[in-house]
Amino acid sequence: MKYFRIEGGRALSGKAAVHGAKNSILALLAASYLSGGESVFENCPDLTDVRESLEILNALGAKTSFHDHTITVDASGADGSEIPAERMLRMRSSILFFGAAAAKTGRAACVHPGGCAIGERPIDLHLWALRQLGLAISEEYGILNCKTDRGITGAALRLSFPSVGATEQVMITAALSKGETTLYNAACEPELVDLQNYLNLCGAEIRGAGSSTVVIRGKSSLSGAQWRVMPDRIEAATLLCAVLSAGGEIVIENARPEHFRPVLEAARQMGAEITEGGEIRIKAPKRLRAIPEIATSPYPGFPTDAQAILMAAAAKAEGTSIFYENIFENRFQQVSELAKMGAKIRINGRMATVEGRETLSGADVSAADLRGGAALMVAALGAQGVSRVFGVDFIDRGYETPESTLESLGACVRREEKGSITWLIKDSKPESPQRATVRSASGKES
Ligand code: EPZ
Repeated sequence: MKYFRIEGGRALSGKAAVHGAKNSILALLAASYLSGGESVFENCPDLTDVRESLEILNALGAKTSFHDHTITVDASGADGSEIPAERMLRMRSSILFFGAAAAKTGRAACVHPGGCAIGERPIDLHLWALRQLGLAISEEYGILNCKTDRGITGAALRLSFPSVGATEQVMITAALSKGETTLYNAACEPELVDLQNYLNLCGAEIRGAGSSTVVIRGKSSLSGAQWRVMPDRIEAATLLCAVLSAGGEIVIENARPEHFRPVLEAARQMGAEITEGGEIRIKAPKRLRAIPEIATSPYPGFPTDAQAILMAAAAKAEGTSIFYENIFENRFQQVSELAKMGAKIRINGRMATVEGRETLSGADVSAADLRGGAALMVAALGAQGVSRVFGVDFIDRGYETPESTLESLGACVRREEKGSITWLIKDSKPESPQRATVRSASGKES
């Protein structure tokens, strides 16, 4: 049983640098398959999702290496088109290899992607867009097959929703195609600008990323390129919420404030003193004020990935905060676990009402998705007593050694792995009533 053991109630201090952005490098790695040469990516986070993407590239015939936050991908001569099912099922962004393989080899096959269970997460917009670009896609027994006999043609298409993944899918696939593609109602997230800039260094001709209209003039071949991955704005937002929850004053290095402006503004509304410059200095108030309303929306709105982590901080704020989750239909999974720490949160459809409590107590809690797991860590940092956050594998998908980053800020976080479930029962401390009931192997509650 793997878990993070977190001793709460310690104010944070010191400096921490954010890593490269998970949601940028995953798209960049799929795009690197288009190249007829070698690409080098610097500032790559060492995450399980990144390693999964490298496994997909290896399976497609590319040669990859990953040392000291630098990834090399040599896709010259690679002509694979079947993405291994076990890799597809592990993460959502694997679907980007479908368009990349089709553009590079004229065919592609895969199953539907997996990923965090934060909603149904269909890929209808991806498939619709690829068909608009001329891919003949069939689906049988859950396996997607596509051929592009006539090559990939340019098209003018409008997404019904500014989907980040579908926008990346179109940029990647249309980059290696004939003609010009204009994508309307594109997602505007900063990760798409990273993708555009890398692909243009490879010889692509893309403009408009970061706005709702992206124009891609297809090319017949692309070279490799060297690129430094942008900083992870959600990791930065997570560190911000950590200090809001635990108290204290920290400096975040390498982050770009404009990438997560709504989260910074919410923190200021809650009483934090924040100064921005080459680094971001955050001083938490003695007690946070509640945030009247947070409604997640596509960039530049409040990022859905920061909803759970800010909610964890708001659980101890003075007053009532209201959260609307408008992007994913199942992104309040952290609520039941926060309640084990004493949080008072009511869910009503897409709305969660958080009645701030003076204190939270340490408890045994389990992550059900990546950002929900980060939220439990944030809450545990501000709780009285010891918490054990299970579901480490979810958290490792999006944060590189979070325990080291938090320890560098004065937190007491240890990654532990101990015996069977029965060990947990013996070790459960009676003093903290909020400790989750741990079922023994026979199902008896303790
Ligand atoms: C990306 O997911 C990110 N993942 C997510 O981060 C992030 O929450 C999301 O964008 C929104 O910002 C990566 O970049 C790897 P979407 P993605 O397509 O591309 C619906 C994290 O924690 N939709 O913008 O899957 C979808 O169900 C992860 O780091 C369709 O209906 O997000 C959702 O309701 C979680 N059909 C909405 O659009 C489709 O074909 C937004 O999804 C595609 C999406």
